[in-house]
Amino acid sequence: MTPHQFQYQVPAEEGEEATAAEVSASVHGSPASLSAALAAALLASAAAAVAERGHFAVAVSGGSVLDLLAEGLRGKNVDFSKWTVALADERLVSAESADSNLRAARAALPALFGAAADVVVPFTEVSGGTEGAATEFEGALRRLPASVLPRRAAGSEGGEGGDGDLPVFDAVVLGLGPDGHVASLFPNHPATAAASGRWVVPVEAAPKLPARRVSLSLPVLRAARDVLVAASGAGKASAVQRALEVQALPGACPAQMVRPLLSPASSASSSSSSPPSVRWMVDADAGSLLRPETWEDGKAWPRSAV
Ligand code: 6PG
Repeated sequence: MTPHQFQYQVPAEEGEEATAAEVSASVHGSPASLSAALAAALLASAAAAVAERGHFAVAVSGGSVLDLLAEGLRGKNVDFSKWTVALADERLVSAESADSNLRAARAALPALFGAAADVVVPFTEVSGGTEGAATEFEGALRRLPASVLPRRAAGSEGGEGGDGDLPVFDAVVLGLGPDGHVASLFPNHPATAAASGRWVVPVEAAPKLPARRVSLSLPVLRAARDVLVAASGAGKASAVQRALEVQALPGACPAQMVRPLLSPASSASSSSSSPPSVRWMVDADAGSLLRPETWEDGKAWPRSAV
């Protein structure tokens, strides 16, 4: 069955070079076809990055999206030797804990984590708290050379005191929380709004346990060339509908805030040749509350005003 496919044009914000960027959504008939499509999208992203620059840098979040991805990659013979893999977020627990995203990711995707050129371990010490862990995670990312993890100018996203650059992951794979969170960026949480120029933000008092976490910052998610947001099951239907069809109040729906970060008008962009994109991929249950018959091509993102 051909998935339903919708596209939004993303309007440039003040100070951005007005280039094409898009948010698309596809609804797949079953969890299995969603898995297959997610894996195919990621592999196509990887092939494009390796062809263009010889390397692929990807970040993956925790939760059920790991299993979706694993299912779609099952039986595929992929050369992961030019991949660098990081987590989009991690809980502040030891890597042996059942709550560790790194542990879950290694277990779900052993071929990837076993064969990747680099696995970015977010932190080794939990005793420094979320601040220490975020600093360690960001340091590990910053130590990767630009040939592995390209950079771009942060533009207005850098905020005060930042280094003025952002990493450009070739792809980021995100799950979706029922409250509209992505990675560990939660609704109306200060970490979601942080524009301090940080690549990794500390997260205290997350509403989903474990409460202490670290997460790639919103500007980093937005700077990625290809963001894949995947959701499966009826439990995600409301969050999918709200994120895609209802303009949220500022900070209330982090998933909706992941719109492509366009190039600052005044600076050269990264070496990427394709425009950045955010692709939502959901199965029929997760997409069951969408009303695509009311959508029109070329609608602004998201489609309705408050
Ligand atoms: C985490 C995740 C988080 C997750 C969503 C969806 O560490 O908790 O990175 O963002 O992806 O909560 O998780 P489920 O698909 O398991 O509901």
